[in-house]
Amino acid sequence: MYLTQIQTSSKMYPLFLGKSIIPQLPLVIRQVKPNVSKIMIITDQQVDVMYGMKLTSLLSKSFSICKYVMPKGEKSKNFMEFYKCLTFALEQKLDRQSLIIALGGGVVGDLAGFVAASYMRGISWIQVPTTLLAHDSAVGGKVAINHPLGKNLIGAFYQPDAVLYDIDFLYTLPKKELKSGFAELIKHALISKDSFYEWLKNNVCSIDDLKEDTLAYAIRKGIEIKASIIKEDEKENDIRTYLNFGHTLGHAIEAEKGYGEISHGEAVVIGMVFALRIGREMQISDINIDELEQWLTYLGYNTRICPSLSSNRLIERMKQDKKNKSNQIHMVILKNVGSPMMMNVDESIISTVLKASSQIVER
Ligand code: NAD
Ligand code: GLY
Repeated sequence: MYLTQIQTSSKMYPLFLGKSIIPQLPLVIRQVKPNVSKIMIITDQQVDVMYGMKLTSLLSKSFSICKYVMPKGEKSKNFMEFYKCLTFALEQKLDRQSLIIALGGGVVGDLAGFVAASYMRGISWIQVPTTLLAHDSAVGGKVAINHPLGKNLIGAFYQPDAVLYDIDFLYTLPKKELKSGFAELIKHALISKDSFYEWLKNNVCSIDDLKEDTLAYAIRKGIEIKASIIKEDEKENDIRTYLNFGHTLGHAIEAEKGYGEISHGEAVVIGMVFALRIGREMQISDINIDELEQWLTYLGYNTRICPSLSSNRLIERMKQDKKNKSNQIHMVILKNVGSPMMMNVDESIISTVLKASSQIVER
């Protein structure tokens, strides 16, 4: 098992990563919350069917527990589910000594974390991630719900008390979800100075290669890269913005298509290629985009914008991004692999590159 301490300016907490480590959860709970009064598990229907019983029987031997199950998918990251979770917590009489466990992917983690941040002004919570994407979402304490006007616009920075990531969960993950999560690994690789990007290209020629040691190593690297950034900048005043590489357009596509119509990772891939093309248009970037696109296409990603999406509407969405300043689009550009930077980008450049990026019809 790999154990590391995630360090941020507000909190330090352990992250456990390994195979078949879920039986360690009761021990972890006792360590981080010795006097826990009640545990509320928050999960989604899909994960509940697969793992809900297992977790309930593991925890009910030692703790008083209750469980809230939400519909699966991005559409659940909304005000209504947030409200229902809080109501359930009140009905179940959770108090300030209670603990929330987020069992699921990024959707469950983001929502459950926001519930934990808000309930009685904040109670403890533990992330038990079950998707590949959650190597990213479970670390760093960004918790949020979506608003019809934009992704993750309502939320908080609220670090969990621990993260327990059992790789065994990933064996039941559909390929589409592995692909979505792998996109965030590629993001971490592209913004990082070490040789992780080269390693990924050399070791992952197909999503089916994401097994056993390759998967475990890649997850660990992704977490290490993220942890090193949030250690320096927890609240996204500086280098944490680099973690949003590909997200300015990615979030706009997700919102414009309708939440859940495209996976987060698939949208981020289109956003990363777009950001690289912006860098090339502005003569800042030196990256071999063709080679990257070739690899991404080989892995089964679509790298171009669906032509049915309106450029003007995408630009309006991008203008609502949290990173913007004075209504100007402020996005992450890469000078090279491992050299991200924030740039204000003129709307005319965005528009030109958007049009060029959506010329090829989506496969
Ligand atoms: P998700 O939580 O919706 O999970 C994807 C699907 O996989 C769901 O249908 C779920 O039921 C199913 N699933 C989960 N675990 C499974 C398993 N082990 N076996 C079989 N099926 C399983 O989505 P996600 O891709 O994990 O997360 C996406 C969300 O994460 C987005 O909302 C995104 O904005 C957010 N995110 C947050 C951060 C952050 O820092 N907080 C970072 C990146 C992404
Ligand atoms: N996924 C972006 C961040 O954690 O900052």
